[in-house]
Formats: sequence, C-alpha cells, structure tokens
Amino acid sequence: MRRVTGAALGIVVMGALVAPPAQARPQVEKKPVAEGYGGAVATVDLDASKIALDVLKHGGNAMDAVVAGAAALGVTEPYSAGLAGGGFIVYYDARSRRVINIDGRETAPAKMTPSTFEGIPFDQAVTSGLSVGVPGSVAQWDLALRRHGTLSLKKALKPAADLARKGFVVDQTFYDQTAANAARFADITSTAALYLPNGAPPPVGSTFRNPDLARTYQELADKGPSWLYGGKLGQEIVATVKAPPVTPGSTRNVRAGLMEVSDLRAYKALTPEPTKVRWNNLDVYGMAPPSSGGSTVGEALNILEYAGPVGLSEYLDASRLAFADRNAYVGDPAFVQVPLRELLSEGFAKERACLIGDTALPHPAAPGQPDGAYGPCATPAPAPGTKEQQPEGPETTHLVASDRWGNVAAYNITIEQTGGAGIVVPGRGVLLNNEMTDFTFGPAPGDPNLPAPGKRPRSSMAPTIVLKDGRPLLAVGSPGGATIITTVLQILVNRFTFGMSLPDALAAPRASQRNTAATQAEQAFIDRYGPELTAKGHTFTPTPEIGAATALEFLRHGKVQAVAEPARRGGGSALVVKD
Ligand code: GLY
Repeated sequence: MRRVTGAALGIVVMGALVAPPAQARPQVEKKPVAEGYGGAVATVDLDASKIALDVLKHGGNAMDAVVAGAAALGVTEPYSAGLAGGGFIVYYDARSRRVINIDGRETAPAKMTPSTFEGIPFDQAVTSGLSVGVPGSVAQWDLALRRHGTLSLKKALKPAADLARKGFVVDQTFYDQTAANAARFADITSTAALYLPNGAPPPVGSTFRNPDLARTYQELADKGPSWLYGGKLGQEIVATVKAPPVTPGSTRNVRAGLMEVSDLRAYKALTPEPTKVRWNNLDVYGMAPPSSGGSTVGEALNILEYAGPVGLSEYLDASRLAFADRNAYVGDPAFVQVPLRELLSEGFAKERACLIGDTALPHPAAPGQPDGAYGPCATPAPAPGTKEQQPEGPETTHLVASDRWGNVAAYNITIEQTGGAGIVVPGRGVLLNNEMTDFTFGPAPGDPNLPAPGKRPRSSMAPTIVLKDGRPLLAVGSPGGATIITTVLQILVNRFTFGMSLPDALAAPRASQRNTAATQAEQAFIDRYGPELTAKGHTFTPTPEIGAATALEFLRHGKVQAVAEPARRGGGSALVVKD
C-alpha cells in the first residue's frame, strides 16, 4: 500500500547508498494482477511485495520470500503484522509434494485462567497488557526457514531492517489506521512517540521511519530467536506487559498483563497436519486448529458439495451452519477435543447440507452433532440463547509466494486488532499483540475457546492451498477477523463454482454470514444481490469493506497469476519474477 522511498531500494556500494540510474531500474508499480514465470508474490503492500520478490530473484524460495515479506509488513503494516505477533503458514513443499502447516499462534501466559477476562469490557481488554499473548512469529519464522527455507533468519530480516531505517511513504490507509487509533495511542507514551509525532498521525506523503525497529530487527538477526524467547528483548516485552507505559494524566484503565519470561522460554511453533477436503474434484488444504480457518472453510465447502445447485443463498447458509459448528466445537486441540475428522466428513456434510432449502435458514442455526452417527435430515432448528457474534474489523494481513521450484506459501500474520494492544515496547519500535482477546471472555461453561495456561486462542485465519491432481492450482487468504473464513470461502466459490477469473473472484463484492441475524455485506453486494436474497429471507447489514485478499493461480505451462485487491485497503501489490 505504501511506496518505498527512493533510497529504501537503493544499492549499497562500499557502504554508501546511491540512487540507481532511472533508466537502469524502471520503477516497479503497484498493480493488483501480474502474470509470468519463475515465481510470484502478492501482498497488500508494494514495499513488502518488492522485498519478497527480491528474495525470489536472488535464488530464495517461497518460504524465504514470505518470511522476508512478513518482516517487511511488520514495518509498513505495523498495525496488522509484526515480530510480537503470530500467524499461520500453509506451504506446499514441491520436493515432498506435501502440504504442511506451521503454527506460530500466540499462547496464553501460564497465569491465565478461564475467568481472566470475565467482566472486563472488551474495549478495555483491547488496550491492555492482559491481552498480550506470548509472541509466535519469530519462532515460526525460524522453524519455517530451518525446515523449508534456504535463507538464515539473519538474512531474511535484513531487508526489513533496511526498510525500517530508510522509511516508507505514508499513504491514506496508514494515515487512516493511525487516526482511528490515535486516542488510545496517545495514552501510551512509547506508542504516541512513535506513531503520533507532533501529537498527530504522520501526514500522507511524508516518509515514516522506525529506527528502533530497524535496530530490533538487526539485533534479532545477530542474536537469534533466543534474544526474544528468554533474552533481553523478551525481558523488555515482559516488563512492558506488566507495566504498560501509560501517559501521565491518562484516565484509560490499561490493565497489567500476566506474561513472565518463563512463558517466552516455553514457546514453541508447531507443525500440525493441515485440514483437507475434497471439493469440486479439488483438494483444499487449510490451517488446522487452533485456527478455525481450515475446518470452517472446509466444512462449508463440504456442505456445498451436497447442497444441490449452489447460488449465493446456499453460500450464505453453508457458512451459517459451518460457523454454528465452529463456535461450538473448535478450540486449541491441545486443550479441547476438536471433532475435526467428523466436522470434515461426508456424513456430517450431508446431514448439514440437507437443512438448506429454498429460503434462508432460521437464525441462529444450532450446531450439528458431529458424532459419526449420521441419520436423516433434522429440522433446521434455531438455537435460542446463541450468543450473537460481534461485527468484525479489518485486522491481520495475508501474503502469498511461489517459486521456480514449485513451492507455494500462503501466510496469515497478525497482531489481532488493527494496532494490536496499542502498546509499543519502549525503544524497540514494536507493537505488542492483543491476541488473547480472541479467547471467549466467559463465563461460558463448555465453550472450547476459554483461556487456559499455555492455550492458543481460536483463530479465523485461513491460508489455503488448492491442489488439482496433486499439483498446486491456487493459493489464497485474507485479513478480516472471522470474515477471513467467509472471504476465502467466497473467493473459492466465485472462482470454481461461479467460474469467475481469479481477479474477478477477488474483486467481486463480498458478504459474510457467520451465524448472525443479518449478513454483513458490502454495499455493492447488497445493491446487486440484495433484492433476490431478501426475497428468500436473508437480511443484510452494510459494512464498508470485507477482507483484503491475496492469491495465486497456477496456469498452464508454468505460468502463474498473482492477484491482490484492486481497491480494498487501498489496493495491493502483485509481482512476478519474469513477465
Ligand atoms: N486475530 C485474528 C484471528 O486470529 O483470526
């Protein structure tokens, strides 16, 4: 979304930065679609895409590219991504021809209990030390590179460190996101100092530099992950979590957190088996729990497989049913029994699909019984007392990359809310996550997503890779909280059921039904499809924008199409190695 300063991609010659001659290096432009060969990337941001592409051009693979790109997004998209956050990678490894998951989700501190958030207003939890989870991104980057990359973490972090030092040009999206957070940023001294210079958001067109973050990346590169997981950086994070630097005179109740250095030492990135469903003669691989992304996208696709002719009404109802089951059954599998196999089974899909008829399902849909004993169609009973889901924000980001060897990466990275906990670690230029607000606050007996020591909160992130006949066909993902699931689902349905091109499938207006009374929808969706769907009983709440997807499609003869948003979040950036 932001343009890099001339210097940021300059060439270092004998330690000096020199601007490349204009004719020798044509300006790379931000565009949402690119087609070509030898590898491709798509992110929401031109600087991050350029850095990921540069990695590919210099012999790196798709995993190297997404790790370097994610670190760059920590600079230019600091309210959505960063080294103090977490995320999920779905990766097609060309050598083994397998799809794998790498889980870098934040964990709850050992002192957290199921009642930690009880009675705390959500907006107070958002800006607090209490909401900060043990960061997972750095352990994830390290594991991802060691297992699947060719670069060291040190090398992968260097472009992002350079970018943080040299700066990027502030665009409208960065300005708007800063302005939307200005009140809470002003209440934290370190955050105000970085993101509200002169007491206001940096103006559009100005160059924003983050020298503290540049040094943090550099030191992390030099010292390795243990500098965070128990070392000095970790100690500073813990100190900040325990005593957030509240601006003198602020009346905001910024609660202290529970994290200890021992929590950081205990952190591990994980490699669960990906989710997989067979849909439309394709194999759709997603992210395993604690993300509900793979299971909910997968269940909804499975339902659609048996729902008869699929139109938008069926898309909305399949999503409603899958969300009812997600909310009832999905949490961190290390703590709760997630009936994943049943949720993704043909029998369960048929039992759920037969509830879908000519008119919209009654609200709220009750969860099904994924018990393996699948019988005749039940009545589509509403479930009184179901907690209404909250509207979702635009948080998080997603990037994709492929390489000349055929590896493919889809990577969701987040610090949860746009702006995370709103707390910058003093002197480090890094915003802390507020991922613990993804837990259910309770009291909610039996809820699979209540906090517990060491538990990962349920996520909606849904990086997805589709194989056809065992080969990558498509990779896709999006930001947007729980709307991530519906955005990915809708893009897959647009592409493979409605036959849109991938750019059209991303650009099409979106609607998100998450077992809510009304479906959240972009105005263009309501204008175009509202009358026909309202006649079937669907209702809509307008929302300005849903998601900001990035995707790749593998065309014939080695050609790849990289796709980003044409307009949402200011539009994204797709690049290929060779046109
Ligand atoms: N924090 C957004 C998600 O994990 O779904």
